[in-house]
Amino acid sequence: MNIVTTPASVLDIALDAMARTPDPRLREVMASLTRHLHAFVQEVRLGEEEFEQALEFLVAIGQATGEKKNEVVLAADILGVSTLVALLNNQDPQGESPAALLGPFWRANAPDCRCGDSIARSGTPGVPLAVSGVVRDVQGRPLADAMVDVWQASPVGLYENQDPTQEEMNLRGRFRTDADGRYHFLSVRPAGYPVPTDGPCGVLLRAQHRHPNRPAHLHFMVSKPGHKVLVSQVYADDDENLESDPTFGVTRRLIGNYALQADGASATLSYDFALEPGEMKFPRPPIP
Ligand SMILES: [Fe+2]
Repeated sequence: MNIVTTPASVLDIALDAMARTPDPRLREVMASLTRHLHAFVQEVRLGEEEFEQALEFLVAIGQATGEKKNEVVLAADILGVSTLVALLNNQDPQGESPAALLGPFWRANAPDCRCGDSIARSGTPGVPLAVSGVVRDVQGRPLADAMVDVWQASPVGLYENQDPTQEEMNLRGRFRTDADGRYHFLSVRPAGYPVPTDGPCGVLLRAQHRHPNRPAHLHFMVSKPGHKVLVSQVYADDDENLESDPTFGVTRRLIGNYALQADGASATLSYDFALEPGEMKFPRPPIP
């Protein structure tokens, strides 16, 4: 009989109720999630007030999400789940570039630019940065007409959507590789920045005595039909927070050489990408 007798018996009855799910993947994922959730509640002996707090946290991250911010993505990021999913699904079996978490700030439809253009449209002050590289397939052949979509925080550590002093779509742009697979553009050196701390994720970080500061980075999304979309980030090699990123996004291969030039006043970054064959499927933008 499917009547609950003990705390532990709830799990079997719940799994039994889900066993008729027609979609096999949904059946597998929900059964596993339910088993892990029950094991977690048992392991920590979750109290009633703690349960209420947990539910309030979930409600709060939804309520804190809007046009300018996606607190739900941020919650997944600061728990390490976004990085785990990115790494699990991109394990370099064919030589493609390493992936990184998308983060909460990608916007679809950044301005289309020509190679050589600057994405610092607001006259953003900062150390000039020239970025270049080659996009190849996993056989090492250059990919012409691949799209390199880039977005970054300003030298004071704010994305344009967080900062009324920046023009719409400042420090965002989409470039196309030339016949040799090359892309290049101008910008200013990004600064590291704190993930938003004005919402429930900030409360959690403070309670855990964790600092919110991400190491400086450029975000890239590289795509070409017939290839899997590569979502990545390239971190500044001189940043003090490489080993304490609140979103756990830094891997060795994602650390770029942000080389200061002889003039001491400008920097370059060269970074190549390799795309694996697959379906060109874009993520859903976390903010509009
Ligand atoms: Fe970022």
